[in-house]
Amino acid sequence: MAPDSSSHLERLLAEFSTLVQSDSLVGSAGEFLDEANSVVASIHDTGIVPVPLDPFKGAAAPEPEPDPDLFYTMFWRMFDRTPASMVQAFAIPVRQMLAKRIFRHCGKDVTFHHNVLFSKGSNISVGDNSLINRYVMLDDRSEVTIGSFVMVAAGATIETHVHPFDDFSVPIAQSGRGGLPVRVGDNCVIGYNAVLTAGVTIGYRCIVGANSVVTKDVPDYTVVGGVPAKKIGEYRPESDYRQPSPEVNKEER
Ligand SMILES: CC(C)(COP(=O)(O)OP(=O)(O)OC[C@H]1O[C@@H](n2cnc3c(N)ncnc32)[C@H](O)[C@@H]1OP(=O)(O)O)[C@@H](O)C(=O)NCCC(=O)NCCS
Repeated sequence: MAPDSSSHLERLLAEFSTLVQSDSLVGSAGEFLDEANSVVASIHDTGIVPVPLDPFKGAAAPEPEPDPDLFYTMFWRMFDRTPASMVQAFAIPVRQMLAKRIFRHCGKDVTFHHNVLFSKGSNISVGDNSLINRYVMLDDRSEVTIGSFVMVAAGATIETHVHPFDDFSVPIAQSGRGGLPVRVGDNCVIGYNAVLTAGVTIGYRCIVGANSVVTKDVPDYTVVGGVPAKKIGEYRPESDYRQPSPEVNKEER
């Protein structure tokens, strides 16, 4: 970020603190938001954004260099708050182009619906023809690898970070953070509001039931459900579809 933008934001924060503490935000809110918008406009014009300070004190220091993709991440979030983001035929290709720019890998014909959130993007890989539905959270502080023809249903959360609980000399919130990658195999369905906790691997063609919390690896062809998720079934094919044709899978969807 250009140093002047950075100090401008700091000045704005100090001003905001004064406005709130003196209970004088009423009457100044419009002016304050105009000024905040001017900083955002300059970020849009220059494409330069600050590396966000990590509010979690135990975390490693932020990278010294600005992340060039942060601008695109910010753009994605802002785009999803515009009416244009509701026009699927337009919005889905826009998000595909952003994902190809930001993610480690984004295959072809991946569908992202609105308000998908992610931490960095650079640790995410998504295979061809997968669908990430609305309000999905991909915490990619460690790697998130999603295979091909995967459906991640609305509201699902994939987490890749953990906090140690066993250092009693510090609060848990300040005891650091570790990363454990999550993998989802090809052809899986991650149900509505399901949570995949850090480190789990979901096998090939698995189904995670709605509202489940997956804390252990799930073997191929397994259906799991509940909190914590347990095996509730399995679907085994007579033949293996590991190299499915797009036609077969589109019908399944
Ligand atoms: C997981 C799911 C696919 C299972 O469907 P199913 O194979 O027809 O299974 P059944 O309904 O016969 O249920 C089998 C058992 O699992 C339990 N179960 C089903 N779904 C469950 C869930 N989400 N969480 C916990 N338990 C669940 C049932 O209560 C039943 O238990 P019981 O044998 O003790 O009675 C389905 O329940 C589900 O969650 N669907 C949501 C899928 C989704 O979110 N799709 C998004 C598409 S984008």
